[in-house]
Amino acid sequence: MATTISLRKIPGTSLLLFFAIAGVMTFSTAQEKKESKENSLYDRLGGTYAIATVVDDFIERLLVNDILNANPAIKEARDRVPKPGLKYRVTALVCQVTGGPEKYAGRSMKESHKHLNISEREWQALLDEFKMSLDTFKVPAKEQQELFAIVNSTKPDIVVSKSSKK
Ligand code: HEM
Repeated sequence: MATTISLRKIPGTSLLLFFAIAGVMTFSTAQEKKESKENSLYDRLGGTYAIATVVDDFIERLLVNDILNANPAIKEARDRVPKPGLKYRVTALVCQVTGGPEKYAGRSMKESHKHLNISEREWQALLDEFKMSLDTFKVPAKEQQELFAIVNSTKPDIVVSKSSKK
C-alpha cells in the first residue's frame, strides 16, 4: 500500500520547513549584501589604498596647475593648508561616498570652498586634471563616469563665480 505522507500529520515538520525557508532567505540576503558590497564603486576602484593613490596624484597636479594658482584665494589656501591633510580629507570623502568604511569628518563642500571664488574655468581645469589622474591609473570608463558624476554633483556648492575670469 502506498503511503502518502501529509506534512500536517507530522508534528514539527511545518516548523522545520519554516526554519529551512528562513535559513535560505537569510543566506540569500547575506549573499546579496556581500555582492552589493563587493560591487560598490569603492571596491571596484580597489579600496582605500588605490583611492588614496589616485587622490595623491590628483592633488599633486592641482597644486602646480597654473590656472588654479592664478587665483590668489586658491594660491593662498594652497600655501596655508598642509598638503597631507588635504589629501587625507579628500581620500576619506571619496572612500565614504563610493561606499567604503571611511567617515569624512571635514567641512561641507560649500563651507570649505566659499572663500576661494572658484570660476567655471578653474572648475574645468580641475576636471581636466582629474581625467589625467584617472587615465594614469587606468581607471575603467564605467568607474570614471561614476566618479565624474559624483564630482559634478558638488559643482553647485563649489563654483561661485561665473563671470570675469574666462
Ligand atoms: C576647482 C575646484 C577646486 C578647488 C580649486 C579646490 C581647492 C581647495 C582648497 C584650496 C582647499 C583648502 C581650503 C581651506 O582650507 O581654506 C580645499 C579643501 C577641500 N576640498 Fe577642494 N577644491 C576644488 C574642488 C573640490 C572637489 C570637486 C572636491 C571633492 C569632490 C573637493 C574636496 C575638498 C575637501 C574634502 C577639502 C577639505 C575640507 C576640510 O578640510 O574641511 N574639492 N579645496
